[in-house]
Amino acid sequence: MNDMKIIGFGHYVPKTIKYNDDFKTIVETSDEWIKSRTGISKRHLTDDENTSDIASKAALMAMEDAGVSADDIDLVVCATITPDSFTPSTASKILKLLGIKRAMAFDISAACSGFIYAMNTASAILTANNLRRAIVIGAETLSKIVDYTDRSTCVLFGDGAGAVVIEATENKSVFYCMSKTDEENILYANALKPQGVFKGGLIDDYHLKMNGQKVFKFAIEAVNDAINSALNTAGLTINDIDLIIPHQANERIIAAVCRHWNLDFNRFYLNISEYGNTSAASIAIALSEAHHKKVIGKGNRVMLVGFGAGLTWASMIIEL
Ligand code: COA
Repeated sequence: MNDMKIIGFGHYVPKTIKYNDDFKTIVETSDEWIKSRTGISKRHLTDDENTSDIASKAALMAMEDAGVSADDIDLVVCATITPDSFTPSTASKILKLLGIKRAMAFDISAACSGFIYAMNTASAILTANNLRRAIVIGAETLSKIVDYTDRSTCVLFGDGAGAVVIEATENKSVFYCMSKTDEENILYANALKPQGVFKGGLIDDYHLKMNGQKVFKFAIEAVNDAINSALNTAGLTINDIDLIIPHQANERIIAAVCRHWNLDFNRFYLNISEYGNTSAASIAIALSEAHHKKVIGKGNRVMLVGFGAGLTWASMIIEL
């Protein structure tokens, strides 16, 4: 358990919107197929903004919501699988864009579970180092690595960023983060391969690859395990949770989880229809949106649940 609370929420998505029908010009697909298999209607795709650009816009909104300035921030953690560069980190670039002169800053790579891994890490660092405030961000420009000739993946993903400002307090939050590697080849995007001295050559394909059906099966088991583990750690039941904010990958995954827990669909916050799957950004965008739409507020107990490449999965219970 770590002692922290969220004091500000923000999100940002690029202006360009692509509807399901737009994809008919590049692959053989239909609005009906995409909507009925996933729940997605549209997604936002970046034209020229990189991950640090959209991340800093979400972070700025969270800072304004919290009423804090650049000088009040001690730590910036950015969860992403689509950084601007190998080095420096996206978080380092965000420092500059936000005008933060001195703070600890680094990225976390845990795919679609990344925002919860980042929240866990940031709150632990605040506690261990006696620091006060952190910005935690989930941000992706997935359109950089999506293969737009592959209809089974290109319709699923979108770009965007979500952020929170957290502050060390007496509030207790519960975290559960897990990884396993036995099926890492069902969802991956390669980077560079070792080139060997003087041999040269970049890997020829860094696009995202996925075995949809295997990931679907994993996702349902992972979400159920993550919910169960967080509840056990916190000593709570599912009825003690006001809202569950899951990673937005597919409405049918959430429907299966609802059946397992005998829950109404409206116990989950869903916005996949608007944004598609934005990986590390998805939970952060949904959390900020739920806050700003006043779906959640002070005193509510919220559970975040993520799953993705790694394979990773994670959950977190927080009192607002
Ligand atoms: N438009 C039209 N048809 C498509 C299509 C598209 N965009 N993409 C795939 N298809 C076709 C397939 O080629 C296949 O055709 P075939 O029967 O002639 O071979 C058919 O639709 C069924 O494909 P399948 O992969 O079995 O569909 P599905 O019901 O499993 O749905 C996903 C595919 C990707 C939507 C689903 O598996 C899924 O959501 N998986 C989990 C993905 C996920 O959560 N990823 C992120 C994890 S963080």
